[in-house]
Amino acid sequence: MLELKEVSFIIRKDGEEVPLVDRVSIQVPKGHFMAIVGPSGCGKTTLLKTIAGLNPESGGALFWDERNLSEDEDFSPSEIGYVPQFSIAYDPLTVDESVEAATRLRVKSRNTAELDARIDRVLEETGLGPISDRQVKVLSGGQKRRLGLAMELVSDPKILLCDEVTSGLDPRSEREIVRLLHDLSRKDGRIVLSVTHSLSHLELYDSILVLHEGRVAFHGPPEQLTHYFSVHDTEEVYPRLASQPSERWHVSWQKHRASYQKMLDRNREKLVASGALHVPAKPKLPEPEISDPAADDDAESGKRAATRKREEADALKLPGFFSQFSTLLSRRWRIFFRDRGQVFLQLAILICFPLLVTIFSEKASEPIRGYSDTKQTDVFVEIQEQQSVRADQAKVGSAVSGIIMFQVVLLSLMGSNNSAREIAGERPIYEKEKFGGLRPSAYLASKVAFLACLVITQSLWMAFFVNLFGTFRGDLVQHAGFLLLVNAAMTAICLAISALMRTAEQASLLSIYLVGFQLPLSGAVLALPEKIEAFTRPFISAYWAWSGSVEALQTRVHDAVKSVIDTGISPQNACLYALCAHIGVALIAAWAGACRPQWD
Ligand SMILES: Nc1ncnc2c1ncn2[C@@H]1O[C@H](COP(=O)(O)OP(=O)(O)O)[C@@H](O)[C@H]1O
Ligand SMILES: [Mg+2]
Repeated sequence: MLELKEVSFIIRKDGEEVPLVDRVSIQVPKGHFMAIVGPSGCGKTTLLKTIAGLNPESGGALFWDERNLSEDEDFSPSEIGYVPQFSIAYDPLTVDESVEAATRLRVKSRNTAELDARIDRVLEETGLGPISDRQVKVLSGGQKRRLGLAMELVSDPKILLCDEVTSGLDPRSEREIVRLLHDLSRKDGRIVLSVTHSLSHLELYDSILVLHEGRVAFHGPPEQLTHYFSVHDTEEVYPRLASQPSERWHVSWQKHRASYQKMLDRNREKLVASGALHVPAKPKLPEPEISDPAADDDAESGKRAATRKREEADALKLPGFFSQFSTLLSRRWRIFFRDRGQVFLQLAILICFPLLVTIFSEKASEPIRGYSDTKQTDVFVEIQEQQSVRADQAKVGSAVSGIIMFQVVLLSLMGSNNSAREIAGERPIYEKEKFGGLRPSAYLASKVAFLACLVITQSLWMAFFVNLFGTFRGDLVQHAGFLLLVNAAMTAICLAISALMRTAEQASLLSIYLVGFQLPLSGAVLALPEKIEAFTRPFISAYWAWSGSVEALQTRVHDAVKSVIDTGISPQNACLYALCAHIGVALIAAWAGACRPQWD
């Protein structure tokens, strides 16, 4: 039984307390199918989230099988299914792949046969079997809702919360979905709570809860709805609700509550007697482990210990870190390769950016090559030579410095393109999966592994390609290392931004600004006032990568760069540590952002 006792959810707005859910008390027995209806903005979604534990209740208490959810542990991820208003599947995947990923993320299967059996059962239950190989993006509204349900049913939840799963559907699809939800509530004593704006097909529900401005105006059998509100048709209920303040509805409901509860109880007894509803016997709780003899007869602590044990047993059903990690990583690659636009963009960047560098360094490549190769043993000739090349020194120095900076900035841009939308672009789905038991560590690790492949390919290819044209005269491995580090640093920083921002647009914009400021704030191209430079430099990845690469140049080329740049060049070790620190701090920030709950 799910029981809500005087549950409230209150927010503070302009210094005032506003109750979005106000003193809601209901009892929902096992195997019950309940509709939560009410006009738009009356608090239906808020109530559902409060039940799910996504909104911490401000007052009252929730009980699930004698367990106080407000004091003890919340629902375990496999106990509860929550189908939100938005789609929780990725468009490029097929129905089968979506359900498979959901199963692999939520349920520990002993072998592939067990996994396949579970997927097949869920697909059949939701009627998705015949279209299992269709991509999500081509599904109809009704099919998408079924998929959302299927992805929740994989863990056999004892309680299923559905938010507007019928809205926007044609009448036939709507009826089919309500019928499906009804059937799901008749299995294994599952409770199904369905939030809906629509007042059609109410007869299929066991009870109807009418909310008005966060308060209960009615909770009773569907056939009593029109009678209670003294209207002829259910469609007249909302206008009738608006005819008096919610507090008055609430007060009058308190008077009638007991009698309607009796009607609900009677209906339920009839249903069980007719065999239409089969509620499984309560599973026997494991014997409590009593560690403290003083607490021997403390029934409460025994019950808690038993609850904990059961929760531990439930938690064991979650797949491990590596299982979730590999599921996410293979899904990410699949989505990447299915998205032709994304593949094309990555390829275009991979080919065009190094090309750009070579085109811009074309004019300088000859003097650079000749310059560094000059080696004289005769002091007199060397002095003569030095005089003749002095004019070249400035040209070569600024060209080499510019080419390195150009590479660094382009790799920074690649970094921001790699990860700015990575988390923010799929945040609602990620939040949903986290609610279903996905570990943030597995999620972040899968992102890091995916992005590391992009970073390594982009950086090494850039270093190799540009070197083919011979503009870098120095230790190529060190140069490639710094290019890799700057790309990794920008990718990690933009991943952190992506994890901390609310929308993908905000994350993209901020990441682009960040790249844009790398060049001027590095001090490598335009000299900055010393005080500003000392303050900004530690944070500018591009400076450290540029400086590290300059340090890797042959001595004469290095001197040439120094002769034209009045900004300081830091030792290579300092550059290495700075870039590693950027990556480290960014990953910690990304971790914090990924752990933080971020529902709308
Ligand atoms: N976390 C929140 N902070 C401030 N206002 C909120 C929050 N959640 C919901 N609301 C507001 O509470 C009201 C009820 O929202 P909601 O439960 O989504 O309504 P419904 O689902 O019935 O349409 C709306 O006016 C909404 O803007
Ligand atoms: Mg809503």
